[in-house]
Amino acid sequence: MSNPIAFKCPICDNSLTKDGSSYACENKHSFDIAKEGYVNLLPVQQKSSKNPGDSYEMIKSRQEFLEKGYYENLAKTLVTTIISLNPRSLLDSGCGEGYYLQKLRHELTEATLFGIDVSKEAIRFAAKRKLDVQLAVASAYQLPFFNGSFDVVISIFSPISTNELARVLKPDGRVIIVGPGPDHLKGLAIQLFRSAIPHEGNFSLLDSDPRFNLVTEQEVRGEITVAQKDISNLLGMTPYYWRTTPEQKQQLLEISELKTPLQFHIKGYSKSPA
Ligand SMILES: C[S@@+](CC[C@H](N)C(=O)[O-])C[C@H]1O[C@@H](n2cnc3c(N)ncnc32)[C@H](O)[C@@H]1O
Ligand SMILES: [Zn+2]
Repeated sequence: MSNPIAFKCPICDNSLTKDGSSYACENKHSFDIAKEGYVNLLPVQQKSSKNPGDSYEMIKSRQEFLEKGYYENLAKTLVTTIISLNPRSLLDSGCGEGYYLQKLRHELTEATLFGIDVSKEAIRFAAKRKLDVQLAVASAYQLPFFNGSFDVVISIFSPISTNELARVLKPDGRVIIVGPGPDHLKGLAIQLFRSAIPHEGNFSLLDSDPRFNLVTEQEVRGEITVAQKDISNLLGMTPYYWRTTPEQKQQLLEISELKTPLQFHIKGYSKSPA
């Protein structure tokens, strides 16, 4: 029987133990558990801004959009892939508002699930799902876990640190990364900018790191028709939001529906033998 997974104190690296409504380490660093059930383990020194990560509006847009089922095929493929690995412990790094954690919780009834995100709003939304998943506000660049904690770490359209992934994974652990293919949301980009802007996700970081081996590669393709009332949410959850002028946004919101290809790449990496 392996030890339960503990949060690591972000200040002194000792183990945190739950003590009533807070987590504390032996040096008496203490972190309150919010009423929704998550813990904020992001010390001020680790914050890049006052409220790092996605804002309330972006998180709300993502939740409303995802709950309409537009990315359901990705969720299904991802869950099937992860079930086949039979993990006892899984971390969703950059979990956002918890859409994929909810799908995983439903199928992986025995596994211990964790989710972290640097956005407090995201973790608050995820906690409101009441999933029996341990949630913390924390950065993917400084994961609040001990070495060799997880069988599987997933990162879906979120930033990664290969050092941290290599550190928190068990020796036979697996990283699953989801990112966009070149056609992903092409219809949205063309509508906004008259041309597509292919983006590549974070794969190159792992592909070029000798500590990892690419072991599985999958693609999920589809085409969706986004109803007019959901277009604003789609824009709000993508990085295009920041590059869009008020005029471009206005034009986008006036179209009656938006057809766009989806193209997700799912890559699985194992750790290379030490
Ligand atoms: C595009 S969203 C994806 C969210 C979720 N994985 C999903 O697919 O629904 C990217 C997420 O990464 C989070 N994020 C940004 N920087 C981060 C960091 N350094 N550490 C952890 N999460 C971060 C954002 O707050 C946001 O929730
Ligand atoms: Zn401490």
